[in-house]
Amino acid sequence: MNNAAEQPSCCRVREKTISRRDFIDLFIKGGLLVTLAGMVLPALNYIWPVTRRGPAGGLQEVCKLDDILVGGAKKVTLAGSALIILRTPNEVKAFSAVCTHLGCLVDWDSQKRSIMCPCHAGTFDMNGRVVSGPPPKPLPEHVVKVIDGKIFVTV
Ligand code: FES
Repeated sequence: MNNAAEQPSCCRVREKTISRRDFIDLFIKGGLLVTLAGMVLPALNYIWPVTRRGPAGGLQEVCKLDDILVGGAKKVTLAGSALIILRTPNEVKAFSAVCTHLGCLVDWDSQKRSIMCPCHAGTFDMNGRVVSGPPPKPLPEHVVKVIDGKIFVTV
């Protein structure tokens, strides 16, 4: 019994066939498209860095004030930016943790009360200003607010 012949023409399901040659052609073109996308997307990702389309800037919570001892520091990453947060007896300060010489990450030296760069011995004071070494500029400072015992930094 032939079902297609029994059904009225309005209700016949049209079967579409694909030849082996067309299938292989489609498979190869799809593979090329995926390969091309795999090469182009990383290039586009490189051209438009994360900082442009990453998390929105503005005031972002870092941690509780008590998480940093007076005279101590903490390094954090906020919205793709490495920061070093210093707590003095009177205030909290935040600077970029990226050395202005060649981009190494700086550390807090509580003994010397200075921000030190381990790469070429660059030294910054507690205001981010260059004290010694090759860094050409001070560390960029970020706005800090302490609200309800929590530290917020503008990135
Ligand atoms: S990278 Fe910091 S002193 Fe050179």
